[in-house]
Amino acid sequence: MQNGGEPSWRRDVPHGLEFGLRNYWYPLALSSEVPADRPLPVTALCEDLVIWRDSSGNPHTFLDSCPHRAVRLSAGHVLGDRIQCAYHGLEFDVEGRCVWIPWEGDAPEKCGVVRARTYPSAELGGFVWVYVGDAEQFPPPPVERIAPPEMLDEHFVCYGRRGTWETNWLLAWDGTFDPQHNAFLHAGGVTVRKLGGRAGGIYRMAVRPLKNGLKLQRLNPEAGVERELDGGWMLPGMATLVAIYPDGPVVTRSWRFPLDEHRTHAVRCSSRRVDTREQRRAWEHLYHTRILPDSEKVNEQDKAILVTQRGLDWARSNEQLLNSDVGVVRLRAMLRDTFVAQQEGRRVDPDPWCPLLTEPWEEGASGRSRNRHPETEEPA
Ligand code: FES
Ligand SMILES: [Fe+2]
Repeated sequence: MQNGGEPSWRRDVPHGLEFGLRNYWYPLALSSEVPADRPLPVTALCEDLVIWRDSSGNPHTFLDSCPHRAVRLSAGHVLGDRIQCAYHGLEFDVEGRCVWIPWEGDAPEKCGVVRARTYPSAELGGFVWVYVGDAEQFPPPPVERIAPPEMLDEHFVCYGRRGTWETNWLLAWDGTFDPQHNAFLHAGGVTVRKLGGRAGGIYRMAVRPLKNGLKLQRLNPEAGVERELDGGWMLPGMATLVAIYPDGPVVTRSWRFPLDEHRTHAVRCSSRRVDTREQRRAWEHLYHTRILPDSEKVNEQDKAILVTQRGLDWARSNEQLLNSDVGVVRLRAMLRDTFVAQQEGRRVDPDPWCPLLTEPWEEGASGRSRNRHPETEEPA
């Protein structure tokens, strides 16, 4: 159940949340995955969608189901500014209006009764973004308002990746707020090597709730909150990590959202500011030789362990949370509250807060310490 009425609950999950948080923008595909002349099928939040480009290259997203007899539109053809169904040849314009029926022609009184369902779409930062939801009930904010700021800045070069995890998206997020697993599951990575296999100290964190997200805080057991980290999490599901390398910061955004109840889209984008050709080359080298292989390795470890939780029902019915799971509890509460609010017709307005959105990039310029890349981090 997504709209109206009182949701039923399974453990601490209101029914429907396992299928995702609708009425948000999501980076559904890499720009490079959407060809100029063919439709691309993408499933997200349990909806089969099709993305296609018009003759100007602008992306459009429809429900992947022809309104005539429900075959996939992604099996059809792109014809300039129209998409044509492969079954009986009906053609639809970029607004989803049927504009041609082979046996009727283009007469509006015949075509006008057939309409494809459309979703607001935009292209930004090397991704095609799609507003998955009901644009009439919850009108979408401009995508520029919620996209990471580096995607709006031509001085930044962004590298994107997209993959699938065989787990429910709620389980996929738990790990982000469970810092202790890094020291064990990801043992052998740079962080743990630096600390001689004793990585627990560096990961003691608290979580401060914000209107549309959670801010991570580094915790000193004696002094309380020691400092805010440039990490954070923002609705409907984007984590930020800033790593400081000797020649400057790299910001990585990670999105997790459902493909369906049992699979999760894991999307990532690493960015750095480049002002010269040499900086561009250096960033390309760093990304391909360090950041990509390191993050792929961590990803594979997370993917492999999460499968063994055997799905949301088993995992949530057989868990006993510990004090290290305080962030997990906060995260679950925020997702739950946001989902229930939408059921009641309210929405958590995606206000402009985004990690680093309002902050200067220069190290130390904001007067706060920044978290450093693990190789340059001193143990807590
Ligand atoms: S099912 Fe698409 S034209 Fe008939
Ligand atoms: Fe992990």
